Amino acid sequence: MKCTTVIGARPQFIKAAPVSRAFAAAGIQQVLVHTGQHYDSKMSEVFFRELEIPLPQHSLGLGGGTHGAMTGRMLEGIEKILLEDRPDWVLVFGDTNSTLAGALAATKLHIPVCHVEAGLRSWNRRMPEEINRVLTDHVSDRLFCSSEPGVENLRREGITAGVEMVGDVMADTNKLAQEVVAGRSAEFLQTATPEMLADEFALLTLHRAENTDDPVRFRALVEQLNRLNIRVVFPVHPRTRKTLEREKLSLGDHIVTIDPVGYLEMVLLLDQARLVLTDSGGLQKEAYWSRTPCLTLRTETEWVETVEAGWNVVLGGEVESLAEMVDAVAKPSSWEPLYGDGNAAGRIVAALST
Ligand code: UD1
Ligand code: UDP
Repeated sequence: MKCTTVIGARPQFIKAAPVSRAFAAAGIQQVLVHTGQHYDSKMSEVFFRELEIPLPQHSLGLGGGTHGAMTGRMLEGIEKILLEDRPDWVLVFGDTNSTLAGALAATKLHIPVCHVEAGLRSWNRRMPEEINRVLTDHVSDRLFCSSEPGVENLRREGITAGVEMVGDVMADTNKLAQEVVAGRSAEFLQTATPEMLADEFALLTLHRAENTDDPVRFRALVEQLNRLNIRVVFPVHPRTRKTLEREKLSLGDHIVTIDPVGYLEMVLLLDQARLVLTDSGGLQKEAYWSRTPCLTLRTETEWVETVEAGWNVVLGGEVESLAEMVDAVAKPSSWEPLYGDGNAAGRIVAALST
């Protein structure tokens, strides 16, 4: 069996790492295609190194540009590779433009598509991720869900064949990283400094289009963040750095901006933060696994279980209540495992092998 895996953006490197390991352990040939959607070394190379992901056989270097232009270039590039390689499966992760391009290129060539993190829905079609995941699910032959709501969401859209709940591959990566990081600190600090973490702090990430592409909402968010009474450590996504410059916005002295960090450093930051402020998908679950409360800077979340468990609160449309909500964030007294046991990748590879 030959499986071609299409990745391209930061969260996909983190999701692909355990699956690549499981393929290798099962002796299955895997071809990695990196679209180049993310290309800075701190958005890409660092994860290959830290998480020991094999180097891609194909690096397309197709990042940047508008959605249509980027997706179209990727579609063409991936199709060319698939025509030459003719794999038995094409594997895609999550909901980025690289996901959609990989799935479309494969299905048009009648190559079965396997979607990892299938069935996730925000029910907000203004999100580029929602379009990518709906379309990918509807052309996929095997759909691996992270939790039961994903299976139910697919059922509501008439997709039942090939659907399996395997748990979350991010839990696999997180579990391994937690073991590496346990009890250690300074050796994994490459970008943050021990002084930044000395006092109580909030960890902030912010990059989603619905925040950064909406100047009114983005400005309101920055105003609120500037009012917080807690030190904030903020690894800045390149998109957001550009938005801050474009909108000529400055951040308060209590907000310490740093470059994007590697995964091990991120796990350390998540473990040590008093709370997480984020619009990331992955960070909401990772905050939960680190037992750190999360305030999600969006109008809705796909990761509803974290909210139901009381560890995640969604900001909503009323940005003005952010500072007040931060003050109210408290650690719930109970916690139980969510999103699997850290062996989702093993289940995926086993399912594809049968
Ligand atoms: C993409 C995904 C989003 C995901 C995020 C993870 C889509 C539609 N969006 O958003 O779902 O949450 O990745 O981080 O696929 N840039 C750099 N260097 C890089 C990468 C990006 O400078 O290494 C800048 C470029 O100006 C680029 C912009 O960031 O145009 C946006 O990058 P893009 O990949 O289009 O979207 P993300 O916001 O990263
Ligand atoms: N991440 C990281 N360093 C950073 C920011 C994020 O390692 O500086 C990791 C984070 O822990 C998570 C993944 O990147 O595993 C999430 O990516 P991102 O927030 O970019 O995308 P999303 O999950 O929103 O699609």
